[in-house]
Amino acid sequence: MNGSAMRTAREAFWRFSPGDVDSVRVFFAPGRVNLIGEHTDYNGGYVLPGAIREGTWCWVRKRSDTRWRVASATEDQVVTVTPDALSYDPKRGFANYVAGVIWALRERGFEVPGADCYLTGTLPQGAGLSSSASLEVATAWALSRIAGVPLSEKEAAQVAHEAETGFVGVPCGIMDQYVVALARPGQVLSLSAGSLEHRLVPAVWPDVALVITNSNKPHHLVDSPYAARRSECEAILGALRRAGWDLPYLANLRPSDYAAAVEIIADPVLGRRLHHVVWENERARLAPDLLSDGDLSQFGEWMRASHESLRDDFEVTGAELDTLAETAWTIPGCIASRMTGAGFGGSTVSLVAEGAVEEFQRRITETYQQRFGYAPSFLITALGAGVHEIPRDEWGG
Ligand code: GLA
Repeated sequence: MNGSAMRTAREAFWRFSPGDVDSVRVFFAPGRVNLIGEHTDYNGGYVLPGAIREGTWCWVRKRSDTRWRVASATEDQVVTVTPDALSYDPKRGFANYVAGVIWALRERGFEVPGADCYLTGTLPQGAGLSSSASLEVATAWALSRIAGVPLSEKEAAQVAHEAETGFVGVPCGIMDQYVVALARPGQVLSLSAGSLEHRLVPAVWPDVALVITNSNKPHHLVDSPYAARRSECEAILGALRRAGWDLPYLANLRPSDYAAAVEIIADPVLGRRLHHVVWENERARLAPDLLSDGDLSQFGEWMRASHESLRDDFEVTGAELDTLAETAWTIPGCIASRMTGAGFGGSTVSLVAEGAVEEFQRRITETYQQRFGYAPSFLITALGAGVHEIPRDEWGG
């Protein structure tokens, strides 16, 4: 957020919550982009996401009662949440994410002090960049800090994940919340979602831009086929376990096990789902080595293979994301491109030579607009930091 946007947010916060400056603190959590390893996290597999610079700012002032007043830059209503009304309420809109975090903290035995929370952000909604995980991690970080019992990064990720799955009701994996909490600038997070072992891998290349192309086709995980894909994976795991396979997670299957496993599953659709999980997991497990070796061209091939597998085997791309990725593959200077996140709409992520970015945008827009009658939008970004407090001199307190 630049200086003038910060000033606008500060003024809006003070209109919403007048008072002294000393009781105000400001926190930030980013959105995320996943480079490879899609629909692997809830199968206990590998992912390779990074944080982006865009995200959510959570301005908070501790209250002396136990009410939480929630407002945002994009909604007119101020929502008040009280301890006796901590259940999901569709009328609350985005404030459900805040309520969900309060609920998850209290489930863990935290005393959450009342607070005025004002949320503002630079993430496009519905773009598949994890605006909800960003909001939840920022809120968990903020509320635990004003309570005086600061969560660690991992704990903040887990609280945000509990809010999303147990309160909002989205059966997502842990990738988004983890990277939003643990990310570091210029690095991606290689995370094994089953064991939660992770390491940061440098991922900055001279003269290469990180370009996110938003299809502007909204997606909603609650009613998307996301849950259906998860159930299919659970059905496969159940069938293999019943056949005597000792598998903590589906992603524990190696490519060499695939032929025998697919015999047991029999159903061709489930066979394709498994094909995706096994090979996508293998790509995501080994991709950090390509990054360490600086082999961007092979990395680009794997990103393309990932998209093709999500298109043909896992069937979560759709015409819009396919058009964006397939057009990108034909543009000189585009090193890599694939859908990112859950799919069914949302965005692609591309690595593009800096000198080719303008032509990339022009050609993608032309093809996409012609086919769908509306334009995509672009975010040229960089790998940024995970959740943190904004120092007072930066927000102008
Ligand atoms: C969404 C979920 C993640 C993950 C991706 C697909 O972003 O929140 O947990 O499953 O989809 O890789």
